[in-house]
Amino acid sequence: MKGVILAGGLGTRLLPLTKITNKHLLPVYDKPMIYYPIRTLINAGIEDILIVTGGNDAGDFLRLIGNGKEFGLKHINYTYQEGQGGIADALNLAEFFADKENICVVLGDNIIEKNIRSAVEAFQRQKHGAKIMLKEVSDSQRFGVPELDGDRVVRIEEKPKSPKSRYAIIGIYIYDNTVFDIIKTLKPSDRGELEVTDVNNAYINRGEMTWEILDGWWTDAGTFGSLLRASQLVAQTGANKI
Ligand code: G1P
Repeated sequence: MKGVILAGGLGTRLLPLTKITNKHLLPVYDKPMIYYPIRTLINAGIEDILIVTGGNDAGDFLRLIGNGKEFGLKHINYTYQEGQGGIADALNLAEFFADKENICVVLGDNIIEKNIRSAVEAFQRQKHGAKIMLKEVSDSQRFGVPELDGDRVVRIEEKPKSPKSRYAIIGIYIYDNTVFDIIKTLKPSDRGELEVTDVNNAYINRGEMTWEILDGWWTDAGTFGSLLRASQLVAQTGANKI
């Protein structure tokens, strides 16, 4: 399995912090944000990694991460997303890199306490389709929210006003290579972006989606509140424990 980290976008919810730099280079406690998703993939045994960046100062990723030596990698790949086309648009740029293999996609502002290795291994047995991870939260209207029927995910709604469950879909997704065919069928949402939730609903409609509850804490870091929370969680208990 290959890994894709999505670290583009303009980070407008964090202005003016993101006026002169990319959101994923901002500090989360003692490290730049992008370090955490890289570590998430490596800890899951995934070392063939593509970073999709964009916006201003994308060159700073090269200066910071280079070829990934600090993470014990021999090489790391980069590509560039023009504009603000959304998560699925950024992911579309990974088609050439994926080269028909399964991929584990991590949003660059998602930080986890523990390890997703067991989910990655479970997907290898699943062979095709997709897998998402859920976490119970107190503010699910900020996220993609699953509607559950027993142990089946029936549908996902993106930032619903009246969420159908207390779970958030976290920003770590495992897909087979048909994800790129799905992306090509998507239409931009009301906010003008290709939504990852539409990708996931396509897999649900095909009956090819599995899910599990993530172990340990999870947070995004794309708003002032969650960026602060991310630093506090990392400072208190550390992140990416094996
Ligand atoms: C994105 C996804 C959302 C998901 C969240 C996780 O939201 O669209 O479904 O729950 O990441 O961090 P965004 O960061 O674009 O608000």
